[in-house]
Amino acid sequence: MCGIVGYTGFQDAYEVVINGLRRLEYRGYDSAGIVLDNNNSDFTISKTKGKVDDLVAISHELKGTSHVGMGHTRWATHGVPSDNNSHPHLSNNMKIALVHNGIIENYDTLKIMLTEKGFVFHSETDTEVLVNLIQYIMDVNAEMDFPTAVRYALNEVFGAYAITVMHDDFPGLLVVARLGSPLAIGLGNNEYFIASDASPFVEFTKEAVYLEEGHMATISLEDGVDIRNIKDNVKITPEVRQLKLTLEQIEKGGYEHFMLKEIFEQPKSIHDTLRGRLLVEEGIIKMAGIWDNLERLNQAKKITIIACGTSWHAGLIGEYLIEEFARIPVEVEYASEFRYRNPIITEKDIVIAISQSGETADTMAAIKLAKERGAFVYGICNVVDSSIARVTDAGSYTHAGPEIGVASTKAFTAQLTILSLIALKLGKHNGQLSNQEFMRLITELDTIPQKVQEALESTHEITKEIAKNFVDAQNFLYLGRGYNFPAALEGALKLKEISYIHAEGYPAAEMKHGPIALIDENMPIVIIAPKQGHYDKIVSNVQEIKARKGKVIAVVNKGDTQVASVADYVIEIPETSECFSPIIASVPLQLLSYYVAVYRGNNVDQPRNLAKSVTVE
Ligand code: F6R
Repeated sequence: MCGIVGYTGFQDAYEVVINGLRRLEYRGYDSAGIVLDNNNSDFTISKTKGKVDDLVAISHELKGTSHVGMGHTRWATHGVPSDNNSHPHLSNNMKIALVHNGIIENYDTLKIMLTEKGFVFHSETDTEVLVNLIQYIMDVNAEMDFPTAVRYALNEVFGAYAITVMHDDFPGLLVVARLGSPLAIGLGNNEYFIASDASPFVEFTKEAVYLEEGHMATISLEDGVDIRNIKDNVKITPEVRQLKLTLEQIEKGGYEHFMLKEIFEQPKSIHDTLRGRLLVEEGIIKMAGIWDNLERLNQAKKITIIACGTSWHAGLIGEYLIEEFARIPVEVEYASEFRYRNPIITEKDIVIAISQSGETADTMAAIKLAKERGAFVYGICNVVDSSIARVTDAGSYTHAGPEIGVASTKAFTAQLTILSLIALKLGKHNGQLSNQEFMRLITELDTIPQKVQEALESTHEITKEIAKNFVDAQNFLYLGRGYNFPAALEGALKLKEISYIHAEGYPAAEMKHGPIALIDENMPIVIIAPKQGHYDKIVSNVQEIKARKGKVIAVVNKGDTQVASVADYVIEIPETSECFSPIIASVPLQLLSYYVAVYRGNNVDQPRNLAKSVTVE
């Protein structure tokens, strides 16, 4: 959801900002822009509809011209992607430049007020309103300094924002602020970086300050970083964090796309998620977040899982896991619905919030609501130090490493791994799971990274081949039962997101209550049919589809003959207990969607209209 990069220091600001924007392009990529500040001349600004490459094509002559600047990569909220709507936005007097991630909700009223005062708007964005509001405040308060004017303006707006602002009369000074959208400040040696996440500056410094909600900072080489509360200007002492992110983690490593790299990283990412937590020889699961709160978790009358998109699908599988092994009732809710529907949540409740990015606005708001009602909120996040990780009462990181491809893959299977650990640990401690069964399951869980590796090897070539047959498909159905029903939903979402083919996931048995009407010889149906988990029922479903001439792509266990003999295409995966099968079955589903999208010529890592981190509601 929009990426921001800022820089002040001794390096070429153009290079730092452009390279930073490339790293943040996963956050939004419909337009890009840059502004540079030169001590003795006006701002130089360049912006365009399109990607960072399009920006470079029109702005490369700015290379080497400045040591201070900022840039933006946009995911449109107010106003279509266009040159005019791209950031940075300038104030009417051309002295203030601003980049923004978020939404200013009361921009309409402010725009009317500013228009009455004579301000002219060149874009449809809410951002242009904010930059002109800052100018207006400075115009009417001749003595007011620039950072104070920014603070006054922010106190007039509602909504969500991360902003960086520069003023032509204050060279070398960057003013940043955050409410609802993330912003990190990299502390270098005689240089400072600003970015929506730490990836743009990871090769320059390992020290960063994550701006907290409602805080702003002034940043300059002369005075360093000064953080204040936006509301009342109270000075804040920043907490400096050490970054663990490495450059290698955020590069493609020889793969054509981040998505493919991330699919292939899954044996390692799942292993990393289990590392230090699953101690099979000692017969224990060690998770500090769960252990410290075990009593509270085990006394829960109900657990509510809140999440969005792929993380919501992981939550559905979490429901199956926790109910099966810990016998605690679980509800799974879209965070966007939960936050607005007055849910029944009390201090006796446990809420588990799942989020790869840890920044999703709807999930953040749902957590806030749950906390207001006294619930204990447990976070499952991938991004270390993300907003959700910091706001929850306790939690577990998935440790999948940075996920750059917009379509979530390794974060999903890492979420399933954490949820398996939680369910097994709770079940063991509340006595619902016998020691013998616990030992059997953890022993098997320990083999999952290896089985994912086998699944990658056994399914890569075949999914690549199968995908060629469906490049022109208009629709797809994904079917599964039990644990693999949410896996079917996730498979359908992956295909939709990157290939733009309409796809729906269904519980296989529900097919006869409606979707069966869609089946004819043109309808591809991906059916997840592992041996363990309602296999006989699935066999009947496959027969029903074949009787209507549907094209069956069956994901089965190695050596399967029954489904394989009637399916049109067969993908073999290693056998597991049903509860772990979605982790394995996800591998070929991810690969299938990846190759269909590649053959259709789509930009797999940056699918249209999407963004990786949805920081607006
Ligand atoms: C799909 C996808 C999205 C996210 C959703 C929630 O591939 O990535 O559906 O799962 O936007 O994001 P997080 O998990 O970051 O809260």
